[in-house]
Amino acid sequence: MEQACKPRKRKMKGIVLAGGTATRLFPMTATTSKQLLPVYDRQMIFYPLNTLIKAGVKEILMIVAPEHSGQFLNLLGSLLKKHGIHVTFEVQSVPRGLAEALTLGENHIGDDNVALILGDNIFEDDFAKQIKDFRSGGHVFAKKVSDPERFGVVKFDENNIAVEIVEKPVEWISDYAVTGLYLYDNCCVEIAKNMKPSDRGEIEITDVNRAYLEKKELEVTLFDGEWLDAGTPDSLLEASMIVKEKGISRNFHPILDQAIIEFNEELKIRSKKRLQ
Ligand code: TTP
Repeated sequence: MEQACKPRKRKMKGIVLAGGTATRLFPMTATTSKQLLPVYDRQMIFYPLNTLIKAGVKEILMIVAPEHSGQFLNLLGSLLKKHGIHVTFEVQSVPRGLAEALTLGENHIGDDNVALILGDNIFEDDFAKQIKDFRSGGHVFAKKVSDPERFGVVKFDENNIAVEIVEKPVEWISDYAVTGLYLYDNCCVEIAKNMKPSDRGEIEITDVNRAYLEKKELEVTLFDGEWLDAGTPDSLLEASMIVKEKGISRNFHPILDQAIIEFNEELKIRSKKRLQ
């Protein structure tokens, strides 16, 4: 196993976590997936996809809930294919936690590294350089927040070295939340496979991060740009306003823009045919 995890230059695969139950967005999510709801003028899912596409990731696995798999297939099944981006799907039958993406995605990851991103996270910053430069270990991105008890939180020592990571800390340890973009080397699959569910019954991504931290292989980068977690009615509304104000959806990679334009045209043709 150690041998298989030796750092060397590998390809970066992508995984987008677009399953879950989205209870905080009930009843909007009774009829569709959270990640297909609009954030200003684009479906939410395009924002994390854009982060991966900007970094040159060409093989992307979507983790989806069974009840929404058809909708995702409709939107993304062939959208990016002719632009050289291969999107595949894996159904997560029960939302067992974020780290399950790494075991569900085992075949997709293969011998490569992986950039895992949450389907409801929107980043203003462009992490293309960090994703392209990634070689080994784990690399996460932390941001100062006012409500750290809602997130996986990372504590730094006086030299700004990460020393502790706790999921939703009851006692305050730091104001730095670990955001929803995680870069891992190939060891992450074995780490996730050996994990037990937490007290809340989930396979926790914080435990994967802690495993890398304990090996002294976790890099944590702080960033200043907007980080929008569009999981509640208020944060969804706020996300739309910030996306509009900062022009985030105007700054998509040309491939993604082009693919969305083509899809719109196709829809128009289809609707005209229906009216004939
Ligand atoms: P969360 O926001 O933590 O969970 P959720 O989407 O089910 O929402 P709620 O807490 O309101 O019930 O999930 C973060 C992202 O990860 C989101 O895009 C959904 C996705 N996810 C999965 O794909 N599988 C899972 O097992 C979990 C827990 C989340």
